[in-house]
Amino acid sequence: MPRTAYVNGRYVPHRRAAVHVEDRGYQFADGVYEVIAVQGGWLVDLEPHLRRLARSLGELAIPRPMSDAALRHVLAEVRRRNRVQDGMVYLQVTRGIAARDHAWPKGLKPALVVTAKSSKGPPAEAREKGVSVLSMPDLRWKRCDIKTTSLLPNVLAKQAARDGAAFEALFVDEAGRVTEGSSTNVWIVTKKGRLLTRAPDAAILNGITRQAVIALARAAGFEFEERAFTLREVRNAAEAFLTSTTAFIVPVIAIDGTRIGDGTPGPLTRRLNTRYRDYVARAVRAGDRRHAS
Ligand code: PDD
Repeated sequence: MPRTAYVNGRYVPHRRAAVHVEDRGYQFADGVYEVIAVQGGWLVDLEPHLRRLARSLGELAIPRPMSDAALRHVLAEVRRRNRVQDGMVYLQVTRGIAARDHAWPKGLKPALVVTAKSSKGPPAEAREKGVSVLSMPDLRWKRCDIKTTSLLPNVLAKQAARDGAAFEALFVDEAGRVTEGSSTNVWIVTKKGRLLTRAPDAAILNGITRQAVIALARAAGFEFEERAFTLREVRNAAEAFLTSTTAFIVPVIAIDGTRIGDGTPGPLTRRLNTRYRDYVARAVRAGDRRHAS
């Protein structure tokens, strides 16, 4: 089935979808994006994604390309036209098209692209057996809370991880503390059974999956704290895992070749994983009910 993309007001065949050479996203990575998971035909946690998009746009003074109601419609339509049941919807807003100049002209119209793709998420083996990760210096700018398409350090880190047969690269700041993965948030469980993830400061993206898992951990009464932890604490942890829209929850069983815990996905990680899957399944069922009514 041919894929369809939405580009600046039009639904076009994916293979012919194109933006202008002077789109500032292309020239300066002057834009923001969201990746939204699709499960059972429903966009998972759409509202928090829209809120984060609005925040990213606001922080960069890029006007909203359309109302949230119109955007919900376009996202649903791109999903529908591509018949995605399980996969993701990608949306990108750039500052717009203008003759190349670092500063931008007044009244620029933002450019919007939306695509959708079927996918099965990370391989079952990664989710069931866990993955290895590498650590790397965090070379990024000081506003990683903004979901910008300027992802060069993330791209290089992920490639280095892949070249090293690892699933993810964990960024470490100058104080030796882990910030986040190249496209994931990082969690550990200490040997005392305390669940930790970094507080949402400017050094990390406040992941939507991260927020959902925090709510589930709190509801389950797990001992939980939002605080930064060091690379050493990861090495000494009982368990570790990653969260993101595309990975959901992936257990980490080794870092830089050192085993974490007993080298298998830990019990708390497994319990959270079950709870997260139930949460998504409930959302899908609720969506189906809304659709039927
Ligand atoms: N990445 N941190 C970074 C740097 C990320 O790029 C992502 C997501 C996350 C997790 O956020 P969320 O739970 O909202 O997906 C954390 C997306 C999936 C990507 O770039 O493809």
